[in-house]
Amino acid sequence: MGYALTGAFVIGLAAYAGYRAATPQKYLVTNRHPESNDQIEKVLESLKISDESLQQIMLLLEDEMNAGLSPAMHKNAVVKMFPTYVRSTPDGSEVGQVLALDLGGTNFRVLLINLLGHAQINLTSKIFVIPQSIMLGEGMNLFRHLADCLLDFMKKENLVRTSVRYPLGFTFSFPCKQEGLASARLTSWTKGFTCAGVVNEDVVKMLQRALDEKNINVQCVALVNDTVGTLMACAYKDPHTAIGLILGTGTNACYMEQLNKVGTWDGDHSEPKQVIINMEWGAFGDNNKLNHIRTKYDEEVDLSSLNPGKQIFEKMISGMYMGEIVRLIMLDLMQQDLLFLGHREGYSGYKAPLFSRGGFYTKFVSTVETDEGIGFSNTRRVLEDIGIRNPTYDDCAIVQHISRHVSKRAARLAGAGMAVLINRINRPNVTVGVDGSLYRYHPRFKRNMEKCMHALVNKHIKFKLALSDDGSGKGAALVASVADRTLRRKPLLSEESEHDEPGTPINFHRKFDTPY
Ligand code: GLC
Repeated sequence: MGYALTGAFVIGLAAYAGYRAATPQKYLVTNRHPESNDQIEKVLESLKISDESLQQIMLLLEDEMNAGLSPAMHKNAVVKMFPTYVRSTPDGSEVGQVLALDLGGTNFRVLLINLLGHAQINLTSKIFVIPQSIMLGEGMNLFRHLADCLLDFMKKENLVRTSVRYPLGFTFSFPCKQEGLASARLTSWTKGFTCAGVVNEDVVKMLQRALDEKNINVQCVALVNDTVGTLMACAYKDPHTAIGLILGTGTNACYMEQLNKVGTWDGDHSEPKQVIINMEWGAFGDNNKLNHIRTKYDEEVDLSSLNPGKQIFEKMISGMYMGEIVRLIMLDLMQQDLLFLGHREGYSGYKAPLFSRGGFYTKFVSTVETDEGIGFSNTRRVLEDIGIRNPTYDDCAIVQHISRHVSKRAARLAGAGMAVLINRINRPNVTVGVDGSLYRYHPRFKRNMEKCMHALVNKHIKFKLALSDDGSGKGAALVASVADRTLRRKPLLSEESEHDEPGTPINFHRKFDTPY
């Protein structure tokens, strides 16, 4: 037995060494007709976007941004560029204890945040799941569910005391037209949510109603998008931060804009003459302007989504869709007998994840791309998980090749979007606060994005991408703590009414030193 095993090992090793010697280090699909390689390359060619094409896309995005900011064009603009009522960034000296709710995907977090000053933050948090039935159900039930989770958390943290009314920051990561810091109307659902009766409603009011119904001693004093939370949390540590970027289930960016460029601004024009804009850039392309770079796979992903025709840019970039694009390409190649040879005929497992919508998760794309060299142990495991028994070397190499193309395209599109913002901000140093599972766990996303940004950002600007840990929750807490203090300084009418001032913009200590 021992000899047999050792023998097998030696033979295996020899075969592996031979294989390695015969295989160039870069991707190459061996054992195939050269024309099949060409056919695969042709399919993947449609995912390549040149630097020149990215530069064109940057111009298009800039036009869409200006339309979103213009009172005359805003209504029909696809990139909505919502002013957030957050007018400056924190300087690290903020202190206080604040609660935060972070809703943006299937997971939902409750956080208790202690701002300690000196850019130090302590936090405790708990993750809750949002069941599908709630994501697709009646709106008020969503907010009641959030209230239940918050109460559960507060009980555990011994915060259920009636004499204290805790301020709460609500990170609500969906497109909202803000009418104040604590007043925001949902314009449409994204990322698989379709709860009835919420679009056009003030989501802060709906949340507060659910909290009050349950007598929870909490007042929602601020709503922020996750991009804004991320920017704020990053700015608490790094004063150069001027952009917040999310690359997760969805994608979006926000940045600090000069008031004189925000035609839609209806607040006051006092110092600092700036406001953070939540771009909602996921909707870039919803007016067909990106059709020239979309593939048939993008079209299919869009048509089978809950919001066809919407969030076109997001659907080419974010984690909710990336795995699905890869799956559709794999199926297409399989149909053409270019991949998973022998698995099509006689395949009995049509229920396997490979054949089901959403069956190939974006985390698989990350896993497949972590494989270096020709061992493909991760890729093999992933392919077995989706129903390909005994995948061959070719199968693994091709799937990795597809994944690389799809994720690289996403990184380059996000990078081009970032370059537009950095060039527009035009300060010598710009830090981008970034969060989201795609950015965090994908092994090459950051590298690919940075590389593309170096080609597209004006040479005199130095930029930095800073991963923002728990940014969206922390940022909401920062905004809430300052909002709470500002509100408390107002003359008190009653304990209840002191927070009922939705239109108040927020000012932190730091003003941006130089106008852009
Ligand atoms: C979607 C939402 C947006 C959010 C982004 C990232 O695009 O519409 O508000 O910021 O996802 O979570």
